[in-house]
Amino acid sequence: MNGQDAARRVAIVNGLRTPFAKSGTALANESTLELASRVVAELLQRSGVAAKEIDRVVYGAVIQDVSAPNIAREVVLAGPFPETVDAYSVTRACATSTQAVVNGAQAIALGEADVVIAGGADSLSKPPITYSDAFVDALMKANAARDLPSKAKAFARVRPKHLVPVPPAIAERSTGETMGDSAEHMAKVNGITREAQDEYALASHRKAVAAWESGVFDSEVMAYGIPPGYRDTVERDTIPRADSTLEKLSSLKPVFDRRYGSVTAGNSSPLTDGASATLLMSEEAAKTRGIEPLAYIRSYAFAALDPNWQLLMGPALATPIALDRAGMKLSDLDLIDMHEAFAAQVLSNTKAFASKAFAEDKLGRSEAIGEIDESRFNIYGGSISLGHPFGATGSRQINTMARELDRRGGGTALVTQCAAGGLGAAVVMEK
Ligand SMILES: CC(C)(COP(=O)(O)OP(=O)(O)OC[C@H]1O[C@@H](n2cnc3c(N)ncnc32)[C@H](O)[C@@H]1OP(=O)(O)O)[C@@H](O)C(=O)NCCC(=O)NCCS
Repeated sequence: MNGQDAARRVAIVNGLRTPFAKSGTALANESTLELASRVVAELLQRSGVAAKEIDRVVYGAVIQDVSAPNIAREVVLAGPFPETVDAYSVTRACATSTQAVVNGAQAIALGEADVVIAGGADSLSKPPITYSDAFVDALMKANAARDLPSKAKAFARVRPKHLVPVPPAIAERSTGETMGDSAEHMAKVNGITREAQDEYALASHRKAVAAWESGVFDSEVMAYGIPPGYRDTVERDTIPRADSTLEKLSSLKPVFDRRYGSVTAGNSSPLTDGASATLLMSEEAAKTRGIEPLAYIRSYAFAALDPNWQLLMGPALATPIALDRAGMKLSDLDLIDMHEAFAAQVLSNTKAFASKAFAEDKLGRSEAIGEIDESRFNIYGGSISLGHPFGATGSRQINTMARELDRRGGGTALVTQCAAGGLGAAVVMEK
């Protein structure tokens, strides 16, 4: 991995996710922890590996559940694992489960673990709601007060406006910009038209629908029984639209810049509930168990940029580093899978990949990263059409690409994401 000869080779052995559902719909009553626990338990069961053979679970969520801050450990304790299975959590915004997979891979490469489950989940239906500082302050004082009058006094300065709940913002803390604002900004500075965004979104839906119809996702998406009866089952992603048309997409109003904007509900990734998990092993551990890995991790890279510039340009920064570490060029890749936060973000990145000026200005390189061959790009749709439970997306992409490499009997694939904070992630896989 990353050209370090001493490192052990890391195999992707299996991967599974829940169906993804638009938040507030089919999975709305499931917490992030429930989604995560169910997918990890089912992945284990499908893999034929005993729970005690798992050395570590690395897991993450972007919207943190305050009652389960180390979600990975809660997944272990809620699942079929002995309590001796080590577990810790990571967060890296939309690249959270890529980070989880990389952490698992690093532990395996270093000989610290042989078998790791990594992944991520998010419920956007059940975000933790907080209150104003004034109300929280009053609650803490009331909690500490010894008698009723003192408790009542603690609320003396609380006004109705302090009682308004505060949902988590999908906005940059450092700049105050929402992700949608950033996508608008990128569309404008990179000359990405509304038409191009809508065409991209339409193609994403068509590819996702075709993938479901051809059975591509059957082995990587579990049926999710809804408690308490478990009779109602969510079998498929609920977001891909077979009936989407360019006419309908072009009729949607811009949501972030209502007057001059081009980013709409149709060309954005929707708020989504879901979970994903990936089973990793050392090459030797897979061989000992007689398991043929789906694929191997060849290299990875993370990169960061100034959030005031173009927030969602992470793939164009992380990819060339991962390719260098893999000893490859973009044209060597058989498959490229880029997280689709917004069509404007994908198209801005693919434009940057092909640009010599971008390479010179932003990467300090004399050659462009490379022109993307559309027939190898996001072949089964992406976050616009499949949905984007923040923490789950990296593992979802890695699982799909690993299975595709296995199906093809070999090749190489890149998985890449942009993430809040101006971060980028890229993983090169091979078979
Ligand atoms: C963009 C956003 C605000 C839209 O949310 P929303 O208003 O709930 O969107 P809806 O799903 O209700 O869609 C609005 C309309 O667009 C239509 N629509 C959405 N996608 C469509 C498609 N592909 N084809 C046709 N119509 C579509 C819906 O049918 C709906 O139409 P209606 O009003 O006639 O019913 C929300 O999805 C969002 O915040 N996304 C960005 C999330 C984000 O920032 N993620 C971080 C990125 S990493």
